[in-house]
Amino acid sequence: MRGGSAHYDADDPMTKKLAARLSAVVPSATLAINARAQELRAKGVDVISFGAGEPDFDTPENVREAGRRAIAEGKTRYTPVSGIPELRKLIAETSTALRGVAARAENVTVTVGAKGALFNLALALFEEGDEVVIPTPCWVSYPEQVRLAGATPVFVPSTLEAGWKVAPAALAAALTARTKAVVLCSPSNPTGAAYTEAELRALADVLRPHDCWIVTDEIYGALVYDGFVQRSILAVAPDLVDRTVVIDGASKTYAMTGWRVGWSIAPAPLAKAMDTIQGQGATSTATFCQWAALEALRSPPTELARMRALFEERRDRLVAGLRALPGVRCGVPEGAFYAFPDVSAWLGKRTPMDQELRDDADIAAWLLDATHVAVVPGSAFCAPGHLRLSYAVSVKSIDEALRRIAGAVDTLV
Ligand SMILES: Cc1ncc(COP(=O)(O)O)c(C=O)c1O
Repeated sequence: MRGGSAHYDADDPMTKKLAARLSAVVPSATLAINARAQELRAKGVDVISFGAGEPDFDTPENVREAGRRAIAEGKTRYTPVSGIPELRKLIAETSTALRGVAARAENVTVTVGAKGALFNLALALFEEGDEVVIPTPCWVSYPEQVRLAGATPVFVPSTLEAGWKVAPAALAAALTARTKAVVLCSPSNPTGAAYTEAELRALADVLRPHDCWIVTDEIYGALVYDGFVQRSILAVAPDLVDRTVVIDGASKTYAMTGWRVGWSIAPAPLAKAMDTIQGQGATSTATFCQWAALEALRSPPTELARMRALFEERRDRLVAGLRALPGVRCGVPEGAFYAFPDVSAWLGKRTPMDQELRDDADIAAWLLDATHVAVVPGSAFCAPGHLRLSYAVSVKSIDEALRRIAGAVDTLV
C-alpha cells in the first residue's frame, strides 16, 4: 500500500502479545536522559550533559584509518562467529600479560560491545530458578539482562562510607545454593570505585567455597587515577579461573563506543556456548570494526595516557565542586569517568515553581529544566538519593555546570 490509510499504531492490540519476559524489564534510563538532552539541544538549548556513558574524545586517528583501510581492502564479509583470529589471539595475549593467567584464542569471543558479551553470557548461563548476585549501585544492564534470561537478580548494597565496595560479609550472606553467578565491576559504573588487591582477595575468599560463576567486568580497567593499581580478581585468585569470565572491550579504553567491539574471556566450554548464542543472534560484530580494534590494541598507550590525564583533572574539579554544594556528599572515585554524589539532603525541598523534590528522578528532571544540566538519577543504578555524573565533558563545562547547579540549589526552600 502506498501512503494512504495504513500506518503504525502505538496502541495496536498486537503489542499486547509481546513476550512475558519483557514485563520485568525496563529500558535503559541512561539512554532516556541522553535522548531528552539531545531533544533540548536540537531546540537550541545550551545543555551540559553529564549523562553519557562514553568518552567525549574522538577515536584515535590510526584506529579510524585502520577501519577505513579494512573497508578499502574489501574486509567487508562475515568473519568467524567468535571474531577474526588475529584479534582473538592478541586479546588472549594482552589478557595473559595483564592478568597473569594464560588465555588462548579459544577462550576469547569478540562481541557486539561488552554489552553483547554480557548478553551472550546471560543467555548461555542463566535460567529460571537461578540467582545472580549483583553488588549495588550497579550498571543498569546487569539486572535487566538477568531478568531477560528468566533468572533473578539479588542485590547486595554497598555504601558511600565503605567506598562503594561490597563488604565480604554482605556478599557471603547473599550466596545461596541457587547462586549461579556473582557480577563484579571494577572500576565501577556508576560509582567509579575500584577494588584493591587486598579487597579482591577478601572477595575471592568468600567466593572460593561456593560453586558459582564469577563475572568480572573490567571495561574501565585502563581508566584509573592517582596511580591506583588496577587488578583483576582473576589475577589475585587464579585458582578460580575455571569459573571466572572476564568482560572487557574497546569502547572506553580507546574511545570506540560506536564501533561496538567488546569481548569475553572464558573457560573453553563456556566460550563455546557463548559462541553458539552469538552465532544465532549477531553472527559477529562488524568486520571492519574488528580490524580497527586490532589496531587499537596494537597502539602505543599515548592516546590512552592523554585521555586518562584529562579525565583525572576533570574528576578532581567535579568532585571538589560537588562537595562544595550544600548538603552534597561525594566520594573520590578511583577510576572510570563517573562521580556519584549523595543528594538526599535535597529531597523534600521545594523549587521556585513550588514543585517538591520527592526523589532523585525529580531532582534530575528539575536540574535539566532549571539549569539545562543533564544527570542520571541514582535509582537507575539501584541507589536512590544519588546522581550519576559522567565527566566526559570539558573542564570549562564542568565549571559552568557547577555554577548553574549552585545557583539553582540556592533557590530551593
Ligand atoms: C560497566 C559496563 N559494562 C559494559 C558496558 C558496555 O560497553 P559496550 O559499549 O562495550 O557495550 C558499559 C557501558 O556503559 C558499562 O558501563
